[in-house]
Amino acid sequence: MSKLVIDGKHKMEGEIYVQGSKNAVLPILAAAILSDGKNVIYNCPKLRDVDMTIEVLKNLGCRVKREKNSLEVDSYGIHSYTIPEELMRQMRSSIIFLGAIISKFGKAEISMPGGCEIGNRPIDLHLKSLRQLGVEITESHGFIHCHAENLQPAYIHLDFPSVGATENIMLAACMIDGRTTIQNAAREPEIADLQRFLNRMGAKISGAGGDTIVIDGVHKLYGVEHTIIPDRIVAATYLACAAVTGGTVVLKNADSSHMGAMMNVLKEVGCKVHADKSKIILLPAKKLTAVGTLKTMPYPGFPTDIQSPFMALMTQCDGTSIFVENIFENRFQHIEELVRMGADIKVDGRVAVVIGKSELTGAKVVARELRGGASLVVAALAAEGITEIENVKYIDRGYESIERVLSLCGIDIKRKE
Ligand code: EPZ
Repeated sequence: MSKLVIDGKHKMEGEIYVQGSKNAVLPILAAAILSDGKNVIYNCPKLRDVDMTIEVLKNLGCRVKREKNSLEVDSYGIHSYTIPEELMRQMRSSIIFLGAIISKFGKAEISMPGGCEIGNRPIDLHLKSLRQLGVEITESHGFIHCHAENLQPAYIHLDFPSVGATENIMLAACMIDGRTTIQNAAREPEIADLQRFLNRMGAKISGAGGDTIVIDGVHKLYGVEHTIIPDRIVAATYLACAAVTGGTVVLKNADSSHMGAMMNVLKEVGCKVHADKSKIILLPAKKLTAVGTLKTMPYPGFPTDIQSPFMALMTQCDGTSIFVENIFENRFQHIEELVRMGADIKVDGRVAVVIGKSELTGAKVVARELRGGASLVVAALAAEGITEIENVKYIDRGYESIERVLSLCGIDIKRKE
């Protein structure tokens, strides 16, 4: 099991080219099976989650070639409509293949995705929506059996603006004759990137980024080239790293229009943040000051994925910050590790109260999930002495070569097997 070893209190200075978005590329790779030809995806991040998605594509019969940060997916030879249990257990977000497989084959057999470290991750909204499109779904022996001899367009209202359910509906409906509408759709930028990709393939979808998406079915989709949008959560994580070290960092290939809520918080704590169309510059705060209450909300609200990295930042801010985690039921596992490093944080259910500023000290800590692991990296940069972070595999799911990125910005960080 590899670990990260970080010697804290080094100022972070430098330029970072922001990786492609994990949460954009995963549904786009699922969409790639809908064409009979080759798709080429540029700015594809090198992540464990992408590697696992490539395994799913190969299991379906696709040929996949990676050249640095470009991925070629040839779905000509696709022959399977199943995703086996071991692949689903490795990455539950493979549920995003369900709509695409149904669209392609008119049937699907996938293992129940189950929960993960941050919550039980139900898929009721996915299944309810697919049933409205005419999919017959039974669940037995731990598998979801889907048959769709007569898919039909539908007007679907989502009880919650679920990102995955929105994406699954888009993928299932894009080749159903007629008009499907999604009301109360998720508005995340990754949905708009999926719409761009599908429309380039020949689909007719509009409204992504807003709360109503309209899908007019087409008969065929073609292989295309596409560049993935930058990862807004990774970008904001590195801004938090710079902020706690009192450093200056320039993010290249960052899309500040996707990061309003997060950049507001960084400005409110006292950082100077300047942004133009594809660059963000963060200059240090004279003094980091707490911002009051941060409630995680669906986009464009304060993102749940940045809650834990920003909580580490708040331990370095003078004053009290209150985090309310409204999206996932178990997304505070990083707190006990931050407390081990000297943070003053009290938890009551979905509310965490952070009293800052606390002098953090290096310690042996354990990452228990992706963004919680990133939170420990942010804290380690601010801590006096050496921090060892176990279970780096979780961080590798979403951050491409985090130790290379940070060491190029003057951070003393090493990966030890
Ligand atoms: C996506 O997960 C992201 N993952 C998550 O990022 C992100 O935190 C989340 O959206 C919210 O923004 C990917 O895109 C691969 P949801 P997803 O469906 O689609 C409940 C990361 O760290 N819900 O919007 O699973 C659910 O339990 C990951 O990069 C139902 O109740 O999120 C949760 O409380 C973590 N029934 C809420 O909705 C359903 O059928 C949000 O889930 C579906 C969801």
